[in-house]
Amino acid sequence: MPAFPSYRSRRLRRSEPLRALVRETVLSPSDLILPLFVVEGTGVRRPVSSMAGVEQTSTDELLRDAEEALSLGLSSVLLFGIPDHKDETGTSGYVDDNVVSRAVRCLKAEFPELLVITDVCLCEYTSHGHCGVTRDGDVDNDATIPLLARMAVAHADAGADVVAPSDMMDGRVGALRAALDGAGRADTAILSYAVKYASAFYGPFRDVAESAPAFGDRRSAQMDPGNVLEALREARLDVEEGADMVMVKPALAYLDVIHRVKQDTGYPVCAYHVSGEYAMIEAAADRGWIDRERAHLEALTSIRRAGADMIISYYARPFARLFRR
Ligand code: PBG
Repeated sequence: MPAFPSYRSRRLRRSEPLRALVRETVLSPSDLILPLFVVEGTGVRRPVSSMAGVEQTSTDELLRDAEEALSLGLSSVLLFGIPDHKDETGTSGYVDDNVVSRAVRCLKAEFPELLVITDVCLCEYTSHGHCGVTRDGDVDNDATIPLLARMAVAHADAGADVVAPSDMMDGRVGALRAALDGAGRADTAILSYAVKYASAFYGPFRDVAESAPAFGDRRSAQMDPGNVLEALREARLDVEEGADMVMVKPALAYLDVIHRVKQDTGYPVCAYHVSGEYAMIEAAADRGWIDRERAHLEALTSIRRAGADMIISYYARPFARLFRR
């Protein structure tokens, strides 16, 4: 490599067109997945105080949001369901006629071109807020798996293109794949939350999804933030069990993990830029401490640069608007 003065790094930084030509990582709306929260009823649109721009909506309102998203150039959504009724085992989440399946049917009827991903987890549907059925104060792994499989099949039957198990039970990807195949849904893809850390950054999400655990925490299922080799094992296991894409979550605090999971698996990697990471930027921007747009763009770019092929982002709509400009 030539040294100074024949090499001058600043030559290629002198104008925006030049910077754009040599930019290694570019972000486009087609890289982003928009999370949406669906509730029962009609005409419901409820903002969430800890998450600017995020709302709980009933299916009729969801259709408007989907139409807007498509018109902005966004093509994928991730659906979370918030039921009216919760019980010990999260029944409202896996019955055939659940809130998410109803929303998926409407979305797909209206916008067949929209890619619909559904979150598969019981925490929004259980009265105690844990991600599965509990026994002696802890989630019972093996008893939870068949319920998750039922939920995945119900979503797939409704037309979901991709199901995304976020519960972190061992062995659930294999069980979901077998159940989907057995139900004639071999084409439904699995995006597994393979690497999900026990993170402080999920706080605002639990307000939106009304899924905070009533007792204890999720540490018996979610990963310790100090571990990266374990993340590689988790990702490999899920790929072996049939995951088509693997997720790392959160994103910003785990950029090294995203990078290594991508290198190690060679599989499509999705990063979940989670609620707390989004809310942090929003809160600082509200106080005038940082530039909102630039901070969001920089965060999203860093996640792509680390190796994520796709990003679940609460900033998807504002980003798509900026991109159009
Ligand atoms: C679990 C789930 C969580 C999130 C999505 N699905 C986390 C949790 O409560 O453990 C968090 C997403 C976010 O913070 O944006 N079903």
